[in-house]
Amino acid sequence: MERHRIKDILAAGKAGETVTVCGWVRSKRDSKAFSFLVVNDGSHQDNLQGIIDAGAKGYDKIGDCQTGAAVRLNGTLKESQGKGQAVELQITALEVLGGAAPETYPLQKKGHTLEFLREIAHLRPRSNTFGAVFRVRSALAQAVHEFFQKRGFIWAHTPIITASDAEGAGEMFQVTTFDLSKPLPKNDKGQIDWKQDFFGKKANLTVSGQLEGEFMAMALGDIYTFGPTFRAENSNTTRHLSEFWMIEPEMAFADLADDAQLAEDFLKAMCQAALDRCPKELEFLEKQYKTVTIAEISALAGSKFARLTYTDAVKELEKAVASGHKFEFPVAWGTDLQSEHERFLTDQVFKGPVIVTDYPKDIKSFYMRLNDDGKTVAAMDVLAPRIGEIIGGSQREERLDLLTAAMAKKGIDAKELDWFLDLRRYGSAPHAGFGLGFERLVQYLTGMGNIRDVIPCPRAPQTIDF
Ligand code: 4AD
Ligand code: MG
Repeated sequence: MERHRIKDILAAGKAGETVTVCGWVRSKRDSKAFSFLVVNDGSHQDNLQGIIDAGAKGYDKIGDCQTGAAVRLNGTLKESQGKGQAVELQITALEVLGGAAPETYPLQKKGHTLEFLREIAHLRPRSNTFGAVFRVRSALAQAVHEFFQKRGFIWAHTPIITASDAEGAGEMFQVTTFDLSKPLPKNDKGQIDWKQDFFGKKANLTVSGQLEGEFMAMALGDIYTFGPTFRAENSNTTRHLSEFWMIEPEMAFADLADDAQLAEDFLKAMCQAALDRCPKELEFLEKQYKTVTIAEISALAGSKFARLTYTDAVKELEKAVASGHKFEFPVAWGTDLQSEHERFLTDQVFKGPVIVTDYPKDIKSFYMRLNDDGKTVAAMDVLAPRIGEIIGGSQREERLDLLTAAMAKKGIDAKELDWFLDLRRYGSAPHAGFGLGFERLVQYLTGMGNIRDVIPCPRAPQTIDF
């Protein structure tokens, strides 16, 4: 079907041009001799306004042009009488492709709550808010690739089905073709016999592409992954999804300082990309929700992220407690920072993003490099205002003996990850990387309060509609 996108018409349409526009009716206003139609086709935040005179081709169907109906409009662009838009469409032919009965169509013009829209996830992309969010999401995904490709990173496609638990946290969805309505096959020890399952061993959905990313980096130098990851953690929060997209760069011949610098450059580049590519969307979201402002994103794009060690972060929090600040969770060296602690650091102390480094080894994953103090590892979390942890990363343990010791201490079977140890046996070298949760980035830049509102089909505990 020949059609012109509203985005292109609004950017470059000239009076006198004939165009065909397909889209969904946002609103209609009838008067005696003509009707106004406001149409959106998803290509742009703004709508196109059209006028159809009584008697024009298809005008007899104007009654079917209810909010939500799909229409095809032929017409001529003319200078707009109203303000805000340069052109509007004088419709010469109207075709209603699919009606939307006003008695039942749930997305009427009036404002809806985000909670209600979540229940109609299959229709919510047609709303101003979700159109904006999903266009920002697409633009950022493209910007992610451009950022890494420009810096010479190679995109590595790591597997979705794996046999290893990259985080060693046991939060995996299992993949099996066993018929679960029947008793499972057992081996001679009376345990489930995974040898008889599809892959001949236990398999699961990946929680992170890092381990495979490491072997790609230890050959190709600088790589990144960008794909879906899955976590079966029972976290019902505004920051957790069971299925989310992660970007994981991994650099050979790099240390924690290089890693932190890459993370900072990357986040700032994403801010700039959102500003450059989605100004209308950001403007709309700022006006609508007042959570994030264009000024804040611009400031961030040019800022310097604060850096401090975990130990100093704890001191900072203890200072706050001493001067009367109340946290729900206790602050003590050796325990993980809770989101209230993270938010205190970003929102109150530093008023911007903070990179916290060198966490106690016991609260971090097995693959992180042990620091010379023997107590902490070369880990970093990048904390963002409002969101808390947006990036987690580390320099990796490249020393075979220390890595095997850490695995043993954390109960990770060295036999299962023997290939990972090979990277330390043959041509081992310092290397580092991080993971950015893509939805947390989109959440941060759109100001959406709930992570379930930045992905078309959110998956969370007890939630898998659509
Ligand atoms: O801190 P995480 O668990 O680190 C890793 O997976 C490492 N393998 C990354 C690496 O070094 N290559 O997760 C990384 C990021 C978090 O900082 C957060 O932004 C996001 O992934 N994330 C989630 N996002 C949405 N829902 C969840 N349940 C998430 N869990 C982690
Ligand atoms: Mg983390």
